[in-house]
Amino acid sequence: MSAQLEELKSRGIGELGEIGDLKELEAWRVRYLGKKSVLTQTLRGLAALPLEERRGVGAQANEVKDLFEMRCEQKRKNLEEGEVARTLERGQIDITLPGRPMPFGRLHPTTQVTRQICDIFFNMGFQVVEGPEVEWDYYNFEALNIPKDHPARDMWATLWVDFQTEGGERPMLLRTHTSPMQIRVMERRRPPLRVVIPGKTYRYEATDATHESMFYQLEGLAVDEGITLADLKGTLLHFANCLFGEERRVRFRCDYFPFVEPGVEMAIECLVCHGSGCRLCSNTGWIEILGAGMVHPRLLERVGYDPAVYTGFAFGMGIERIPMLKYGIDDIRLFYSNDLRFLRQF
Ligand code: FA5
Repeated sequence: MSAQLEELKSRGIGELGEIGDLKELEAWRVRYLGKKSVLTQTLRGLAALPLEERRGVGAQANEVKDLFEMRCEQKRKNLEEGEVARTLERGQIDITLPGRPMPFGRLHPTTQVTRQICDIFFNMGFQVVEGPEVEWDYYNFEALNIPKDHPARDMWATLWVDFQTEGGERPMLLRTHTSPMQIRVMERRRPPLRVVIPGKTYRYEATDATHESMFYQLEGLAVDEGITLADLKGTLLHFANCLFGEERRVRFRCDYFPFVEPGVEMAIECLVCHGSGCRLCSNTGWIEILGAGMVHPRLLERVGYDPAVYTGFAFGMGIERIPMLKYGIDDIRLFYSNDLRFLRQF
């Protein structure tokens, strides 16, 4: 080793032994390992040396550098441990105090309610399945009796995915409801079937107290021999009684959806005003939570079921509207605005 590097090594190690605190150690590190240190300068200047000297000096300088780094780290550990021990000795840390509690996360109110709803249907013999949020036009519309030029498409303001086929068609979208899963499930299974399908849905809509552009729906579908509208009504009434209590009034009215015949909507008495009218229920006293009906025979045919043998019912509810009714929340936008003061209440 060159005499200069040898001298640097013993001086550095000697000074390191004298160091008594972390501040001094940092100054030492800058002096011996920093950008302007003799060692770094030597390594940088290697290129200027003749070839035969370069290899030897380079190896020696790297050896000293490795040694300095290792000893510096050892010293840091020793000093830190000593510091903790001294603080404990001085009684500055009371290790008998209870620790600070870790803040626990919680399930989002939508997740909590989705699970409650699924449990109710599970107890009635329904299975829970899920499906894609990015969907084909075929499942979201066409297979549900809503062809390209059908005015019912206006009922679902659609967010289309920017994807074109070679023929110039745009067949991909963000599902506007969970009803496409009716077709997907029936294509894959044979009756009897009873399923519920929770999931996100998207609409290109102006938001207000009861409308969001991303919200959750839960679809229900039952197909078997001899299913009637009475089964649909009984199932939904039992669901409403379980969730809201038997005293809450429920209303069924006729409604139109191209994929059911007949079609109905179900509304629940507004919790905020108990039916007298308020902002949440747009002064009607009722809040619509779902659309439903008997599965249209054409859908059954489309998936290869014989409509003379099988009948079925389907329903689709807006999930956020359920906690809104249950807890008197008067604005749906609170759910996804990430305000912890709101979310921590559930
Ligand atoms: C449908 O989406 C049909 N797929 C429902 C259906 C299923 C009918 C099966 C027949 C058979 P509608 O657009 O009405 O229907 O929406 C269903 C529910 O979703 C509404 O009752 C409401 O609770 C909720 N909903 C609709 N739009 C929004 C929105 N923008 N924000 C929050 N919830 C909404």
